[in-house]
Amino acid sequence: MKTVEEVRAEIPFLRTGIIYLDSAATTPTPQPVLDAMLEYFREYSANVGRGLHRAARRATEAFEATRSKLARVINAEPEEIVYTKNATEAINIVAHGLRLGKGDKVIATVLEHHSNLIPWQRLERTRGVELEVVGATWDCLIEPSEVDAAIDDRTRLIAMTQVSNAVGSLQPVEEISKLAREHDVLFLVDASQAVGHMPVDVKAMGCDFLAAPGHKGLLGPQGTGFLYVRKDRFRELEPLLLGGGIVESVDERSYKLVGPPQVFDAGTPNIPGIIGLGRAAEYVLEIGIERIAERERELTARMLKIGEIEQVQVYGPQDLKARGGVVSFNIEGIGHHDVAAMLDELAGIAVRSGHHCAEPTMRHLGVDGTVRASVHYFNLEEEIEKFIAVVEQIAKEFGK
Ligand SMILES: Cc1ncc(COP(=O)(O)O)c(C=O)c1O
Repeated sequence: MKTVEEVRAEIPFLRTGIIYLDSAATTPTPQPVLDAMLEYFREYSANVGRGLHRAARRATEAFEATRSKLARVINAEPEEIVYTKNATEAINIVAHGLRLGKGDKVIATVLEHHSNLIPWQRLERTRGVELEVVGATWDCLIEPSEVDAAIDDRTRLIAMTQVSNAVGSLQPVEEISKLAREHDVLFLVDASQAVGHMPVDVKAMGCDFLAAPGHKGLLGPQGTGFLYVRKDRFRELEPLLLGGGIVESVDERSYKLVGPPQVFDAGTPNIPGIIGLGRAAEYVLEIGIERIAERERELTARMLKIGEIEQVQVYGPQDLKARGGVVSFNIEGIGHHDVAAMLDELAGIAVRSGHHCAEPTMRHLGVDGTVRASVHYFNLEEEIEKFIAVVEQIAKEFGK
């Protein structure tokens, strides 16, 4: 168990004095994660899966060990973890790896990050796959009955987000997973805003694939992520890249590849990043994921008080149980980018503004963008109070 003070003391970036409310974009890196990466560079900076010398063996061991650490976070098996450079790559592996073609249908939702939408749009264009995009309620929740109505006998896959990165709404993925199983449809969960922030259990959820970044909730380094593939689904998935490091044998005309998950590691991977990600997974487990979730809920409840300011409109569900640690809002009469710039200028508060790579969600809300504040375990109550006070000041001085 680690207290908030202990965690803050271990994150060097927070010592700059920044009030960091942009964890939905990426998170700062704790010192033990930096140390694990530096140790690799300084002591055993070798390639993996190839050499027999001791540095190569140590590197391979440390690199492979991350699979079991990530597996513990989501209740999977180590051999079900595929390393990627981000969540986007994880989703693209599924989009390109499943042998989808004309006559197949994929269901996504209006709440998807572009990374879980445009790979499917491309399949529509290039392979004749049909994409159906299910709508959401006014407060950005997906109704299982809407997904049910979209499923027909051509449907091969449902691909949807667990927590909307644009407004923070938490989706009923367990119910939708059950529907997918009943109809014998594959289920891909984009858990980018959930893993590391709240308990995620792939076995309880019953999904076939789950995509996650390493650099958000897990506090891992940028350039890391992973894809969970249920063991028996690997045979339906072709690797995205072919090349060195993943072959058993090659002759001039043909090749034989190694098995999963290493078959997805063609080329020299991000070895220090994946080693750092393993340390990060341990780190969030040391804090306790249930504790992280509880703290984020408290901080989010506090942040939602900005909704009481007259000129402020908050998007997403009112019910805290239907939310992750993301609060999206606008101040009437001021552009979202201006609000974000003022928060930075006036108080060193870092938030994101714009469409959050979710333009269809913005259209659903009838806006061209929002201001998004997002938390992690390390945020302080005082930081949220300061944020609320500055939003109020901006609303009073510049809002309508
Ligand atoms: C819901 C969601 N999906 C996908 C992504 C893409 O993640 P990455 O930047 O790791 O590729 C993000 C990142 O913001 C996200 O929030």
